[in-house]
Amino acid sequence: MQMEKTRLRIAVQKKGRLADETFALLKATGLTIKENKGGLFYRIKNLPIDLLLVRDDDIPGFVFDGVADLGIVGANVYEEYALNNNNQRRAQCIQELGFSHCNLCLALPNTEGYANLNDFNNKTIATSYPNILQTYFKKGGISASTLEMHGSVEVAPKLGIADAICDIVSSGATLEANGLQNVKTIFSSQALLLKTTKALSTEKKDTITKLLSRFEGVRQSKETKYIMMNAPRSALPALTKLLPGAEAPTVMHLEGQKDSIAIHAVCRESVFWETMESLKTAGASSILVLPIEKMLA
Ligand code: PRP
Ligand code: ZN
Repeated sequence: MQMEKTRLRIAVQKKGRLADETFALLKATGLTIKENKGGLFYRIKNLPIDLLLVRDDDIPGFVFDGVADLGIVGANVYEEYALNNNNQRRAQCIQELGFSHCNLCLALPNTEGYANLNDFNNKTIATSYPNILQTYFKKGGISASTLEMHGSVEVAPKLGIADAICDIVSSGATLEANGLQNVKTIFSSQALLLKTTKALSTEKKDTITKLLSRFEGVRQSKETKYIMMNAPRSALPALTKLLPGAEAPTVMHLEGQKDSIAIHAVCRESVFWETMESLKTAGASSILVLPIEKMLA
């Protein structure tokens, strides 16, 4: 594959849960994606970027080799790939993206009791993550065999080919449906932004800078809320103290009401019901909390 000099190439999962959240982030970042169903690439219309659609297991290798300049992949997949290659093929992880949170867990049939990790000694564990698991066992002084599977890991105990499994747990529904209990989380994962260690053109570096600043903007606007309320002027000092992570609020006078004001503020932390209740107790009324769509500091 001949490398593009100016258009940044980002490897993303073709389909699956990670793909859905990746596309949601890219869209929130303002990228206009020209889909090409069945194609290997999606072209971005408003920035010099191409998306390379692949299986998630292929992403760490593609980024390491420079087939893609960036990649978005789960930490679980990245770690397994790196360990499988004796840590000799690690791309650079430049950002934790804060989505696709899940855990890699050891699970046993519900019918089995569990005391501690030693229970796994001399057992067979079905998993798609043999390297992460064996590294973990090695640290804990456990000796167990792994049965490598590439999907439907949860059926292994029922089939009698393994005593336990080590698999990704998100909602826990898969374990429950298969009569399994989560006994130990061995690795916590989320989506990562990987970058190749190969040299990049100035154009590509500029695009990365722009993209990172937009990702940051998306992250901030998710957490940041715009809050508005009315209050007696005398309550202002108390209310200002209660506003979570806010800079100086905007204070406006209310037409025809001498002692009442309107307060507007940008809060950089989540505004919970509890906060709103405290504001009310401190004298505020008509409290509104609004999402912020975009932010550029
Ligand atoms: C993962 C994992 C489980 C399931 C767990 O599979 O292997 O099967 O998700 O999620 P839950 O706790 O919400 O039920 P995934 O959907 O990634 O597909 P794959 O195993 O085929 O890669
Ligand atoms: Zn699965």
